[in-house]
Amino acid sequence: MQFVFLGPPGVGKGTQAAKVSEKHGVVHIATGDILRKAMAEKSPLGVKAKGYIDEGKLVPDALIIELMNDRVRQPDAKSGYILDGFPRTMGQGQAFTEALEQNGEHLDGVIYFSLDDAALVERISGRRSCPSCQSVYHMIFNRPKNDEICACGTPLIRRKDDDPETVTKRLSVYGDQTAPLIAYYKELGLLSEVDAGGDLEGVNGKVEEVLQGCSR
Ligand code: AP5
Repeated sequence: MQFVFLGPPGVGKGTQAAKVSEKHGVVHIATGDILRKAMAEKSPLGVKAKGYIDEGKLVPDALIIELMNDRVRQPDAKSGYILDGFPRTMGQGQAFTEALEQNGEHLDGVIYFSLDDAALVERISGRRSCPSCQSVYHMIFNRPKNDEICACGTPLIRRKDDDPETVTKRLSVYGDQTAPLIAYYKELGLLSEVDAGGDLEGVNGKVEEVLQGCSR
């Protein structure tokens, strides 16, 4: 199972990828999580990425493409993966297609999650994230059992790039740089659209239908 989950900030890609990963035993690879970990550790990648992420811009392709081509070759990705947040530019998409082809591989499909901007902002504004295990909650739609504490015991945080000004910037960057991938993957015959409106379980049911239809 090799899938890309594509869609705007806050649409629920990470939430659905975590569910699919757990159910099907495939690794969930989220570029945002990799970059936030790198920033917390102040690694060379994290230091380079911080300014872009804090301003709601994309990290340059040159930093991401090699990182991800290497990540999908790791042993834990052998039985499959869900890519969440990659690719998100045409350059990344084309480079990834070429890298897969060079290894005689291909994606099984790309799920494009669609939702209107007002609902995206509502989801992002209530989001709380665990800086330790990367679990994601919502203070109305997916509440933690203990207020503001993750199931792993770590206090939850609000992501710095979830402030309203940066969210507006991220939505605009998505429209300019990531949305063209929808037509790209449609042209390749890989795209399935899932309406991301509705509750977590309802959306998950639609995702599972697509996965069953596309998997080898
Ligand atoms: P990243 O972390 O990838 O952020 P994003 O794509 O903007 O996506 P989000 O994490 O905001 O949203 P999501 O769709 O995963 O939604 P979630 O499941 O959390 O990237 C952050 C930054 O890193 C980028 O801005 C960029 O700078 C950099 N970056 C990352 N990848 C890059 C790349 N490839 N190239 C260059 N730069 C890169 O859900 C949102 C909320 O809604 C949660 O609270 C959740 O509980 C709730 N929710 C989910 N589903 C539902 C539902 N059905 N009903 C109600 N609530 C729901």
